[in-house]
Amino acid sequence: MRQKIVAGNWKMNKDAAGSIDLVKELTANAFPSGVRVMIAPATVFLDRIAQATKGTGLEVASQNMNAADSGAYTGEVSAAMLQSIGINATLLGHSERRAYYNETNESLVHKVKTAMETNMEIVFCFGEELADRKTDNHFKIVEQQLEVALFSQEGLDWSKIILAYEPVWAIGTGETASPEQAQEMHAFIRSLIQKRCGDAVAETTSILYGGSVKPTNAEELFSQADVDGGLIGGASLKADDFMGIVNAI
Ligand code: PGA
Repeated sequence: MRQKIVAGNWKMNKDAAGSIDLVKELTANAFPSGVRVMIAPATVFLDRIAQATKGTGLEVASQNMNAADSGAYTGEVSAAMLQSIGINATLLGHSERRAYYNETNESLVHKVKTAMETNMEIVFCFGEELADRKTDNHFKIVEQQLEVALFSQEGLDWSKIILAYEPVWAIGTGETASPEQAQEMHAFIRSLIQKRCGDAVAETTSILYGGSVKPTNAEELFSQADVDGGLIGGASLKADDFMGIVNAI
């Protein structure tokens, strides 16, 4: 059975006190059973948030991770560092990392490889830009992203991979993919997994939708057959909004 997952990507928001306040507000709620609830706060606060969430059922992930084990990579953080503070999951390939920090399908190959070698769970993010959709290239782009960074790699442990389809034109723009557009793409992604990795992997891999998910549109998006949850940016910064989305699943 596929896991239902709602993950909050806090991006570069909240200071120390604000992060802890939000964690407290979130953990004051009972999470629906059978749903994994995750947050990805800023790297600098991961240690204290890992401590603050112990035993609460709220999972904590990093927003990024370096491909190297250690060494001269100023400003970067490794899988081993994250794991040493109890963080065992990370987002990879978010569109903002691709747009501003030169992450490419090719460079993500190394990050995915490292994640697999170190047993890190990944939320692998991908999705087309507006120009791709306007020119009807969205399926091709998504296939390419998955082919290069994931399918072409041997021996991936798919039980450690969560996919997050995030059309770039819907991220932080207030413009959401319609439930039909989301379902159409998610079904396509699942068919690709089935073709490249077989039925069992296709049936058990969670595919999240991301891009302007709000409490008001979450239920309709999550009710689509191939949408297994969401990756939430802006609306994950307010406890009420995020819990509204969590409870919509
Ligand atoms: P958004 O961001 O919900 O603010 O559109 C989603 C994301 O970037 O993961």
